[in-house]
Amino acid sequence: RTIFLKDYQKPPFLIDETVLHFDLNEQGATVKSRLSVRRNPEAELTTSDLTLDGVDLELVSIAIDGVALSEGQYAVTEEGLKVIGVADTFLLECETLIKPQEITCLEGLYKSSSMFCTQCEAEGFRRITYYLDRPDVMSRFTTTITADKTLYPVLLSNGNEVERGDLESGRHFVRWEDPFRKPCYLFALVAGDLLNIDDQYVTASGRKVSLRMFVEPQNKDKCEHALSSLKASMKWDEDVYGREYDLDIFMIVAVDDFNMGAMENKGLNIFNSSCVLAKPDTATDSTYQRIEAIVAHEYFHNWSGNRVTCRDWFQLSLKEGFTVFRDAEFSADMNSRTVKRIEDVNLLRTAQFAEDSGPMSHPVRPSSFIEISNFYTLTIYEKGAEVVGMIHRLLGEELFRKGSDLYFERHDGQAVTTDDFVQAMQDASGKDLTQFKRWYDIAGTPVIDVDYQYDEQAQLFTLTLSQSCPSTEGDADEKPFHIPFTFALLDSNGCNIPLIQNDDAVFANAPTELVLDFVETEQTFKFQHIEKEPVPSLLRGFSAPVKVKNTFSRDQLLFLMMNETDGFNRWDAGQRLSADIIQSIAEDYMHGRALNVDARLVNAYRGLLVSKSIDKALLSKMLMLPTESYLIELADEANIEAIHHARNLVRDTLAEKLKIELLRCYQENTDVGAAYSADFNSIARRSLKNSALNILLSAGDSDALVLAEKQFVSATNMTDESAALIALVNSDFVSQRESALNTFYAKWKADPQVVEQWLSIQCTSAKSGTLEAVKRLMTHEAFDIKNPNKVRSVIGAFCNHNLINFHNLSGEGYQFLADNVIKLNKLNPQIASRLVTPLTRGKKFNQERQALMQAQLHRILSEENLSKDVYEVVSKSIK
Ligand code: ARG
Ligand code: ZN
Repeated sequence: RTIFLKDYQKPPFLIDETVLHFDLNEQGATVKSRLSVRRNPEAELTTSDLTLDGVDLELVSIAIDGVALSEGQYAVTEEGLKVIGVADTFLLECETLIKPQEITCLEGLYKSSSMFCTQCEAEGFRRITYYLDRPDVMSRFTTTITADKTLYPVLLSNGNEVERGDLESGRHFVRWEDPFRKPCYLFALVAGDLLNIDDQYVTASGRKVSLRMFVEPQNKDKCEHALSSLKASMKWDEDVYGREYDLDIFMIVAVDDFNMGAMENKGLNIFNSSCVLAKPDTATDSTYQRIEAIVAHEYFHNWSGNRVTCRDWFQLSLKEGFTVFRDAEFSADMNSRTVKRIEDVNLLRTAQFAEDSGPMSHPVRPSSFIEISNFYTLTIYEKGAEVVGMIHRLLGEELFRKGSDLYFERHDGQAVTTDDFVQAMQDASGKDLTQFKRWYDIAGTPVIDVDYQYDEQAQLFTLTLSQSCPSTEGDADEKPFHIPFTFALLDSNGCNIPLIQNDDAVFANAPTELVLDFVETEQTFKFQHIEKEPVPSLLRGFSAPVKVKNTFSRDQLLFLMMNETDGFNRWDAGQRLSADIIQSIAEDYMHGRALNVDARLVNAYRGLLVSKSIDKALLSKMLMLPTESYLIELADEANIEAIHHARNLVRDTLAEKLKIELLRCYQENTDVGAAYSADFNSIARRSLKNSALNILLSAGDSDALVLAEKQFVSATNMTDESAALIALVNSDFVSQRESALNTFYAKWKADPQVVEQWLSIQCTSAKSGTLEAVKRLMTHEAFDIKNPNKVRSVIGAFCNHNLINFHNLSGEGYQFLADNVIKLNKLNPQIASRLVTPLTRGKKFNQERQALMQAQLHRILSEENLSKDVYEVVSKSIK
């Protein structure tokens, strides 16, 4: 059944108070609820019956105003409970029985190792008790948890602890009260034998907040980074948005079995262990940065998500897009802004662009869905963040802040829409955002054609931009997007030239960078007093989520690679040049022609490696060739063998021609005996050193082998240890590779976060290549199909990041994926449905591969008892 945004109606009933009582036992849990229900005076639709959501619940008893209901006064269905003929206000009491121990979908209340925990977003609360499970029903929650005191000494829920005590037969209880009204998707409960690591934060207005992280005892030394990230986030949200924390306690819990990264439950954030636990010897630099970003993301939700929440799930990007924008700005402020932008754009251009041109393409505010879990997508999150970022660019820092202040003030305590967000931005800034709203409604990636001319006589530079969007092609009333197009002109020394758009401008005050309001289908911008032919700098900082057709020659790209003043564009010039060169080699490969690597690329890399002035953080990114996924995304029809071969040839050529420079880079960026620090400069240096090692060893360099083996045994942090392992695993030195893998596992097998890395390093190795190795790993003691992290590290890693093997023309990779989707469909539909994505990306491949992928999709679709999750993705992907 498809749900449509246009069918939205206000809830017919409201729940002012929600009083919950949980009895947790080894056989199951009893949940008693007392709901103060009232007819919604604003409801469009009046009905005499109350319909509550509920899934897999066993109803034990039900009463209204203290009187048990008799049969005929209510009806239980697959999807919930209907109470027939209710009054305008009443107290509804329900007792239900649930089986957390049997839940494998990891929604509602479930068990992860020895603890009870919850995941309610988006529609998990209905697996706990009968309720109005929709975000526009906000209620005050009081939660009492009772459980065995020895097994579950820690009992947590949202808000403040108000009471605790011992009960008979070794049990105890704790009562929690959340003073803030919230939708039930923000409800959380945790029970377990956990340790707490405590810290404190004093807010700008002087209130003391306890910060408390709960982990299983073996993880007590892995909390420091999350806690310091949390404090930095709290400070940042005060400084940049004027937002203070609002409860006396903020709790974080780490759980091993979790479908997503983390969840922003009010006052009680629950995290996937892999997104919160770290210490230098087990977590890599990228894990450190991911943790910092996710801790911030969940914390920022307290305002953008909890205090102001979504009216309905079509508005998901209201909280997710805005919060991703906020966490990206935070990370940019804490680390290298340019590098953060490069990473985000890289993800957007590979994965989100692919999603946006694939069968599940949808707008930032979708207009329909079958299963909301399928819409926690790159489009909602990353493109949604880009859309907020564009508003930021159009308004500027100060007006944007005025807009966000107005938004929080106007809508505090409400459940609202993306339109409300844009309206607040418009009202506070005075900037007309009517046309801008199109970004929320239209799917697909706009394409910009750039044309420019220089008239030396008139000293005039003319820029003509035109836009189109593949999803609205042929649409009679196709209207243009409002695109902030950040632009500059560079002279031959790579200096920005003053931009004078009309003669009156005072030359000295002319800006050297402009955000052009590109609002027409085709639009011309003129710049005067340009004395010499400049090189244009287009879409600086990737100022809008669009594709700009490449108009640069290789020589211009080389110039930009060395001289661009915009860090992002400088990196992008390198990517475009490398991609162009790899693409022509791939062409030659397909036609059986001789292959050679344009010497200009080698020289450019040499120039970067010997440059004394380039920032190391930027250099560390520039040293990485475009990924195979990005090269596939750039192609109309991708030939994976050709791309793989061409990319490797370029990498090996760099290794051979730049051996001396790469070895020097390795040595210069190696610190012996220095303490680990996760600051961005240290991270950049480790990244540089490890890239150099990887390039050399992939090409079979024997000096690099010695360095890698030495690094592998002497590393004092996981970044260096795993980088050495990756380099060895991707080399042709078979015995060294096997022995390193065995050593690593023996050393780390007790640490799930490290084992995840060990698994994915093997599954992404193009060298190890064979699908057989992946299948063998699935029978290894380290694998567990019920644990999403393990599934992602093995099946996900292979299908998404081992493209040459996954797309093998035997079709076995596709079959392998389909087999596992079918298996997971029963255990964990959300994970199954996410996993299937690579099979839905056939469009980029030739007929033969498309047919193989389609056959597997058909096989999945013909399964009985297909979950809504998998059904939606697969049925939309079938041609
Ligand atoms: N709101 C969470 C976050 O982005 C993600 C929850 C995802 N839940 C889901 N069922 N897909 O921080
Ligand atoms: Zn979020």
